Formats: sequence, structure tokens, C-alpha cells
Amino acid sequence: MLAYRHQFHAGNFADVFKHALLAQLVLGMTRKDKPYFHLDTHAGIGQYDLLHEWAQKNAEHKDGIARIWGRNDVPDEMQPYLDALRAENPGGTLRYYPGSPAIARRLLRAHDRMVLSELNPKDCEALAVLYARDRQVTVELADGYLALNAHLPPKERRGLIFIDSSFDRAREFKRLTDALILGNRKFATGVYALWYPLMDPASMRSFERGIVATGIRKVLQLEISVHAEDWTLGMRGCGLIVVNPPFGFDAVAQTIVAYLKPLLANGAVPPAVVRWLVPE
Ligand SMILES: C[S@@+](CC[C@H](N)C(=O)[O-])C[C@H]1O[C@@H](n2cnc3c(N)ncnc32)[C@H](O)[C@@H]1O
Repeated sequence: MLAYRHQFHAGNFADVFKHALLAQLVLGMTRKDKPYFHLDTHAGIGQYDLLHEWAQKNAEHKDGIARIWGRNDVPDEMQPYLDALRAENPGGTLRYYPGSPAIARRLLRAHDRMVLSELNPKDCEALAVLYARDRQVTVELADGYLALNAHLPPKERRGLIFIDSSFDRAREFKRLTDALILGNRKFATGVYALWYPLMDPASMRSFERGIVATGIRKVLQLEISVHAEDWTLGMRGCGLIVVNPPFGFDAVAQTIVAYLKPLLANGAVPPAVVRWLVPE
């Protein structure tokens, strides 16, 4: 069941896309003084060694972060993400790739709190070791969808919920939509970021219709393609649904997506998407 291990994919194009956007979402949450709660439902192991044999197997980072690392035309909007990478690689050589917990953690303030849930016992153990002495971080061996139910609404009344499922099957689209419905029912003012891979066009339209049908408002949709629409040899692109994004995030996301798209694309690809799927 839990065959997926993120170590095989660390630093790939999808990581670059989701993590550059995640860093900006966290920054947006920290703009107000009040404490905020961060929930990462599918946390992974938090730090990845790109020289590990699993990461080397398909070397997905070569078509991801390696295309960005060392460039001198990177926009300011990408810097919070790149700062996290530089912190992991102080010598300047790209070897360690920070996962979503590490990217968010370095942007938290002393009064913010983070819960990380991970269902794979080995991955969860690695994560627990990484944050063993961190009093702001709680690591739980748990199903991320149940963690949503358990932790919402947070006592802080301000929160960012990052749902980054390993997406084993197309039916995950329904779980994602259900998670959003549950989250919205328990904590309607929360900020939700849901990552998804681009699958066949019919599945994508059905996912969008499902999100619209929830009646939830203020839904931003971001997508990037790295292969043509008929590509079948792997993931052709991915997206992020963001509900209740912090003020100004849409413009920042536009810049990030516009910068990344030509660098991560392999040949001619469909246009990137930055649009309000459902406006306010
Ligand atoms: C795409 S990876 C996460 C990567 C991580 N969010 C990051 O960006 O660094 C998905 C993770 O979810 C875990 N997982 C799968 N099903 C889960 C579930 N129901 N609840 C929590 N974690 C789950 C997998 O073991 C895997 O580590």
C-alpha cells in the first residue's frame, strides 16, 4: 500500500513548483503578528540526500532543482525557497534537498506551531529524529486525512494546511476534494494548499468540477506542464489548488510559475495556469 518513497523523486520539477509556492504561502501567514498553525498532512522525511542510491536511480532532480540551482536570473519571489536550499547546502554544491517540513520550519516564528503527519513508519521515524529536539514541531505516525480531522480547527484560529499526497491512484482526487470539504466545515478560514499531478484531461476536468461543486469560494488554481498533453511515460505536469491564499499570493505565484515554466519544460508544452477557479 505504501510503496511510494519520496526519496526517489526528491528535487524533481514537482518539488520545485510546490516548494517555491509553499515558501511564499508560509511567508504570507507570518505577515501578521498573530501565531499560526501549520499542518503538513503527508510530510515525507524532511530532508533528502540527492546522492542516496534511491535519488540517483532516475535522478529526477536533474530535470528539477538542478535546472534552477546556480542561475543568476532567479526572481525575488523564489528566494525564500532557495534560501532553504542554501541553508542545507552551505558549501554551494547541491547535495541535500529540503522537504516541505524543512522549507516551512525555517520560516516559522517562535510562537508558531507545526504538526507533521506521515503514514510510512520508516519515513515517520526519520522525520521524528530530525525534529526530536524541536518544541515547535510535533511528528505523528498518522493518516494525514485523519490528522485534518484531529487538528482542525487549531486554537490559533489561523492555519495553513498543506496536503501533498503521494497520489497512488486517480481516486485520490476524490479524497482530496473530500479533505477540502471536511477542512472547510471544521475550519472555513484556513488556508489550504492541495498538490496534484496532471492526469488525463477528463480526470482533470472532473476534479475541477468537483472542487467547484463544493461551493467553497476563493480557490486559486496553479498548474505547470513539463511535457505535452499526450505524454504517458510519467508525470506530465502538476498543480496546486490554494483556498483562501494570503493577500497578494496570486501575483507572486504568477511570477514563480512564469519563471519556472520555460526552465522545467521539455519541448512544447501547454500553457501554465494561474487562475481563480472560484473567485471570492
Ligand atoms: C509526495 S510525498 C510528501 C513529500 C513532502 N510533502 C515534501 O514535499 O517534502 C507523500 C508522502 O505521504 C506519505 N503518505 C502516503 N499516504 C499517506 C497518508 N494517508 N497519510 C499520511 N502520509 C501518507 C508517503 O509515505 C510519502 O512520504
